[in-house]
Amino acid sequence: MIKFIPAEAVTSVRNIVLREGKMRPGQPHWPTDDLEGAFHLGYFVGDELACVASFHPESYADFTGTGYQLRGMATLETYRGKGFGNQLLNFGIVYLRGQKANYLWCNARKKALRFYESIGFEIISDEFDVPGIGPHHVMYLKIQ
Ligand SMILES: CC(C)(COP(=O)(O)OP(=O)(O)OC[C@H]1O[C@@H](n2cnc3c(N)ncnc32)[C@H](O)[C@@H]1OP(=O)(O)O)[C@@H](O)C(=O)NCCC(=O)NCCS
Repeated sequence: MIKFIPAEAVTSVRNIVLREGKMRPGQPHWPTDDLEGAFHLGYFVGDELACVASFHPESYADFTGTGYQLRGMATLETYRGKGFGNQLLNFGIVYLRGQKANYLWCNARKKALRFYESIGFEIISDEFDVPGIGPHHVMYLKIQ
């Protein structure tokens, strides 16, 4: 089941999946999590949070219209490849369409490019390195 969840609720899955448990306990969530208009989604299997994604109002470069940045897309390892990430992201995209957003973008890890491409995102930057994390590309999805 997909639910809107508070920023504090996404940090456990984020920490396990995206920061390999390196965030200190009690470390605050990301500053952009609290931007006005930001929202967070969770995919629950029973009571367990299996997959999270965060959406922050943020334009990219000189793109026109209302842009959102997708951040913290993460599924716990046991739950990967079951379509949860796809469902969660598509839920967010439909919600953003209702909010009159024009596009969604993200800094996509190279390993996740195919996942985003299967949803309709396209690569719009050269490869760049995020120190300590690895190679990325900026990806873009037109919403409306
Ligand atoms: C990227 C990530 C979020 C995808 O989450 P997920 O819940 O596994 O996503 P899905 O199950 O919807 O899709 C994953 C793959 O499973 C496949 N899949 C989807 N439904 C499926 C099903 N019912 N049965 C089998 N495979 C399925 C998809 O085709 C997809 O393949 P692809 O990656 O080659 O496109 C997850 O792999 C992850 O957390 N990775 C580590 C962190 C990371 O890299 N995050 C992205 C940061 S930019």
